[in-house]
Amino acid sequence: MKYARIVGTGSYLPERVMTNADIERLVDTSDSWIRERTGIRERRIAAEGETTCDLAEKAARRALKAAGVAPREIDLIVVGTTTADQIFPSTACLLQARLGIHGPAAFDVQAVCTGFVYALGVADQFVRTGAATTVLVIGAETMSRIIDWQDRDTCVLFGDGAGAVVLKADSKPGILSTHLHADGKHADLLQVPGGISGGYEDGRDPYLRMRGKEVFKVATTTLSRIVDETLETNGLSREDVDWLIPHQANNRIIAAIGRKLGLPEERVVNTVAEHGNTSAASVPLALDTAVRDGRIQPGELLLLEAFGGGFTWGSALVRY
Ligand code: COA
Repeated sequence: MKYARIVGTGSYLPERVMTNADIERLVDTSDSWIRERTGIRERRIAAEGETTCDLAEKAARRALKAAGVAPREIDLIVVGTTTADQIFPSTACLLQARLGIHGPAAFDVQAVCTGFVYALGVADQFVRTGAATTVLVIGAETMSRIIDWQDRDTCVLFGDGAGAVVLKADSKPGILSTHLHADGKHADLLQVPGGISGGYEDGRDPYLRMRGKEVFKVATTTLSRIVDETLETNGLSREDVDWLIPHQANNRIIAAIGRKLGLPEERVVNTVAEHGNTSAASVPLALDTAVRDGRIQPGELLLLEAFGGGFTWGSALVRY
């Protein structure tokens, strides 16, 4: 039996910090409202000209260094992103060229905030079947580019960043299971209406629009269900989980899932205050933060989960 093991993590945040006070100058909001309703204090914003691939490259190089893996050993790149640099080539192909890798498959996965978990699930299948042995999996976003900075319903929530992991095939687990789901019927609750085949000139809204209250309800119930599904598949109980590494959208959703698992707050990796919602980057950013500060130790059991536009949702149970 082959498993995919996480052998290195990395992340990168743009330099510019945007605080709640900065956002108070843009829209009718307040630091206390944002902190109370979301837990967010600040977020990072990519510099002018700084792209998703720039962030992905920095995170990837840090993960490769941590893993002690050279770019030429990588035989698959999967990037979760919804804010690609260009319509094509994919961000994964742009990144592959920068890393000097030539030949192996490289592609993007578009599942919005579930993008990294989807990318990890896809990469896991490649490793389990023997189709790949050393994989770079990335979640990277410049959400600031699809935010309407006049819309207080959304602009307080999102940020930019990237996180990466290197996976290696191993006889020891590894990723125990991944669970990927979607239900397109809720598209109108969270979307960027503008697109490509609808035409550039038809004036369709190019910004992220959300019905926050409704998204909140679906996210909480759906994530709660996927926690059960993940544990049941593996014949494990909630006491077996050492760390919850949740999608960083909102403190209240994170806390609800932590309670569901019966985990004390200090066993839930929470970076939402400093990062905001970085969409596909949020789970790998949180993972790398807790690996580098020494909280997550080898052999521990990690539950990763995410929810996002589509709707999409997913989880991964990982023996680190
Ligand atoms: N600043 C100040 N007030 C704001 C505001 C802002 N940025 N945004 C909304 N408000 C106001 C509303 O107009 C409303 O005012 P009213 O009571 O006078 O009508 C009040 O605050 C409450 O709004 P509501 O939408 O009910 O707040 P909420 O408690 O649902 O919190 C979210 C809003 C967006 C923080 C919350 O719904 C949420 O987190 N949803 C999930 C979002 C998410 O995770 N999306 C990504 C999924 S990947």
